[in-house]
Amino acid sequence: MINEYRAELDRLRAVSGSRRESVLREAFKDLLKRWGRANDLQFIAEHDILTRQMTRIYIDGALLHGLRVPFGYWEAKDENDDLTAEIDAKFRKGYPRDNIVFTDDVTAVLWQDGTEVMRADMQGDDDSLLNLLTRFFAHERAEIADFNKAVKQFATDLPEILKALRDRIAEKHAASRDFAAAVAAFLQHARDAINPAVSDDDVREMLIQHILTEDIFAKVFNDPDFHRKNNVAAELYKLEDKLFEDRGEKPALLRALDPYYAGIASTAALIQSHSEKQGFLKALYEDFYKAYNRKAADRLGVVYTPGEIVRFMIRSADWLCEKHFGRNLIDKGVEILDPATGTGTFIVELLEHFRGNHDKLRHKYRQELHANEVAILPYYVANLNIEATYQAITGEFAEYENLCLVDTLDNVAALGIYSGHQFEMFGAITDDNIKRIKRQNSRKISVIIGNPPYNAWQENYNQNNANRPYQRVDERIKQTYIKEGTAQNKNSVYDMYTRFVRWASDRLGDEGIVAFVIGRKPIAKAAYDGFRKVAEREFSDIWLMDLGGDVRDNPRLSGTTHNVFGIQTGVMIALLVKRKGKGGAVIRYARRPEMETAADKLAWLGQVSTFGEVATEAIVPDRRHDWLNQATNNWDEFLPLVNPKLGLEAPSSAAKAIFRLTSNGLETGRDEWAYDENLGYLKDKIEWFIGQYNKAIHSGDRRFVKLDRQLNRHFQKRTTLNFNLKAIRHAEFRAFSGRWVYFDEFLNAYHSRLHGFFLDEEYNPTIAYDGMAADYSFTALSVGGLFDKGLTKTGNGRAQGVARYRYTKSGERVDNITDWGLNKFVAHYGKKAGITKDAIFHYVYAVMHDPVYRDKYALNLKREFPRIPFYPDFVKWAAWGETLMAMHIGYEDVEPWAVERVDTPNARRAEGTHPKPILKSLPEQGLVRVDEDTQITGIPREAWDYRLGNRSAIDWVLDQHKEKTPRDPTIREKFNTYRFADYKERMIDLLAKVVRVSVGTVAITEAMKALDRSGWDEGAETK
Ligand SMILES: C[S@@+](CC[C@H](N)C(=O)[O-])C[C@H]1O[C@@H](n2cnc3c(N)ncnc32)[C@H](O)[C@@H]1O
Repeated sequence: MINEYRAELDRLRAVSGSRRESVLREAFKDLLKRWGRANDLQFIAEHDILTRQMTRIYIDGALLHGLRVPFGYWEAKDENDDLTAEIDAKFRKGYPRDNIVFTDDVTAVLWQDGTEVMRADMQGDDDSLLNLLTRFFAHERAEIADFNKAVKQFATDLPEILKALRDRIAEKHAASRDFAAAVAAFLQHARDAINPAVSDDDVREMLIQHILTEDIFAKVFNDPDFHRKNNVAAELYKLEDKLFEDRGEKPALLRALDPYYAGIASTAALIQSHSEKQGFLKALYEDFYKAYNRKAADRLGVVYTPGEIVRFMIRSADWLCEKHFGRNLIDKGVEILDPATGTGTFIVELLEHFRGNHDKLRHKYRQELHANEVAILPYYVANLNIEATYQAITGEFAEYENLCLVDTLDNVAALGIYSGHQFEMFGAITDDNIKRIKRQNSRKISVIIGNPPYNAWQENYNQNNANRPYQRVDERIKQTYIKEGTAQNKNSVYDMYTRFVRWASDRLGDEGIVAFVIGRKPIAKAAYDGFRKVAEREFSDIWLMDLGGDVRDNPRLSGTTHNVFGIQTGVMIALLVKRKGKGGAVIRYARRPEMETAADKLAWLGQVSTFGEVATEAIVPDRRHDWLNQATNNWDEFLPLVNPKLGLEAPSSAAKAIFRLTSNGLETGRDEWAYDENLGYLKDKIEWFIGQYNKAIHSGDRRFVKLDRQLNRHFQKRTTLNFNLKAIRHAEFRAFSGRWVYFDEFLNAYHSRLHGFFLDEEYNPTIAYDGMAADYSFTALSVGGLFDKGLTKTGNGRAQGVARYRYTKSGERVDNITDWGLNKFVAHYGKKAGITKDAIFHYVYAVMHDPVYRDKYALNLKREFPRIPFYPDFVKWAAWGETLMAMHIGYEDVEPWAVERVDTPNARRAEGTHPKPILKSLPEQGLVRVDEDTQITGIPREAWDYRLGNRSAIDWVLDQHKEKTPRDPTIREKFNTYRFADYKERMIDLLAKVVRVSVGTVAITEAMKALDRSGWDEGAETK
């Protein structure tokens, strides 16, 4: 790292050589930022501090610790100033002296703990500047060191303390009727206000968060009443008083956290300026919540929105409001709501936006600025933040009465009321929070602005972190986005972003603006076509600012460097304008360069005033309601491979596709249990699992049984299971890696359609393919029977397949290729071409291997089921397909390639031990290192060109033979039976066969590539 800094310093000197002072200053600032980042310090330019003399000073740069604790400062002067005299003057004004660097273009001066420590030459080439910076960054104030220690200790101690608090609450609940009644009353309130699913446990957690943070809030704002006055806090204080009737009890319980609180108290004493307090609150919001409950933090999307984004959105919403409705945000009657307010940043920045217009600001604050938050800690933070900001701007304190503790998505009472729907209200409960919610619901909201929670779709049921369903909003999604969509996997459309857009769109009524930070997914992914179609209809104008950072789409990106939230999914700012009677949205889109860093993206947003100033391109949605990455080619003319919308019962003639049925590969939901190389071991595992499961039904002890959604349903119904030997089948688990599997409706997560292909063990050739949502290019691999969804596993994609035959409900084996498909081929190539269904099957397989097809239709293949063009010379393609299929399905029966085996056994290896597996391929040298003793050579280089997804066929074989530590603890402990040594010989034999298959496959795909295609007309009539 030091070398990197040296290079930076050289660059600095080179720049300074050119004597461009502002450039030198910028470069030095950059250096501080980067060095700071490496030490987890945040650089803030133009940082304001309140001095001891109570004057405000703006310092050129400050480096801050996590909780906004100052670490050090930097002040730059002009070359013409007398630096020493300037430093004196600054200290007289109250500049901090504990760790500060002053620079002009010639000299850098470091002061630490009140004394000048050293000077360095900014332009010379000795190491003095490096030394100075090293000392600057090595500085540590005693109280900060203590505080950092306390923060770390806090995370360690917290679980114990939480347990103690939970126990205390449970005891009290049992022992004190008074306390139990108070909890019940509060629970009722929470159910009415927040959401009906709130439980006793949730109330307990709210109380705990309250207890843990109340002192902090009181200290930062050194006015305990500030917090106490809030209506929800007041209720929780009452509960707390009942919990700790004995005054000494609380300090005793929390004693271990004392250093943390003491650290906060001394830090709080250092934070004087208002903006610093805000910064502190934001950091507390994220840090505390993550330490307290990481899962909840993730589910709720506890992460604050950078100010640059918030301000850009406010300025743009204001501009659009004026443009379309002739009014500004500050104008009376424009009511604004942040439905997921977090630390209240949007409201706070709105107040800043309105600064200078005292009367209107006052009215806005009291009447027309609304905010919702569902979790207690952010709710407190938002309340303090907003009230303190208002006070800082206006000089007067006023309670912020428009903040509601409520689950926005459950608060559906006011949805649609301004477009004629019924207006429902809560019952007779009259406490303050409910009153606030009712008041908000009675208002016409014109602008909904905020950053709804991001929560990655929880595919894995066992993570148990899925968002709960929202009945009304989900119904609305079903009636709109789902109804209009064509996506197969509809579940992903019910995410928090679409829910919030649905809610906001309904809440606005006939007109208004929604300004949200949303993921790129709804805008960019095929599954959201219905969402986009409906948005086109419901809004008149859509403005999209694509901030990129989609690490999953582009692995060259890094979340921390390129994503403005440091996450893996791309980020988009969307401003959606709704105007009465005006649909057919005009869509405008702008994006930041793909490789731009998050810091630069934010800096850019900080300096454009509104969207109106940004160069945008107009998007005209295509037939599929794609907005981004529209494909332009003749794809639509090709024959559909399958019709995924067709139900299982529909007749074959309704398919209008080459194949009648397609199925996903097998998803066991518990691969380590359900697959094994060894039949006997598989049987042992499954019998043990079923035994534990049956026991758990009676005992309730589920420690050893991994339940997925499917099995949980049976568990809830108390269905006992029996081991069924017939369910053990052979399956292609990964490319060229067969295994034994337990194929069973109870123990597999999804397998139903596969029965339509593999009802029994009869040979049924199947083309498996992996295209949609795959991270790598389209792949196809034929198999003779059951196959796994991860056959050619590529990121989010999953293998699907079309088999040659299928089974009807009554168990009859019939053709899976439709007559409709056959007729199309015959109509195109003529009767004389001798087209048969088998030949079509082979032809399809060949086309799927065509490198030109994969490349030209790459975008289509990622979004849709394949379509098949008519190439000239059907017979040649069908023959290619037949050869490929014979090799791929029969890979174990091909003649092994004549590879060479070199064995150099280690004579000193202890008896009974095996050489360590290496399983690494070196394509350039044409060899594979098998283990410490053995390598295989003589593999042709091109064999590695046969790739499936992210690796070559050879590497699939190697990968599947590695010894991996099982993830499931029970498997690890009881059934970790795989040893490479047992399979070494078999693998070497398989490897030589797969080399043969690879060379053969590449020969064919190369021949395809070499075809002269000029004059080809691949279109087909699909009518
Ligand atoms: C991304 S954060 C908002 C950050 C905020 N703009 C800031 O800068 O602090 C999302 C917030 O929404 C809250 N939230 C999540 N689901 C909610 C819901 N259904 N109703 C209301 N608030 C919700 C979370 O607790 C979280 O604080």
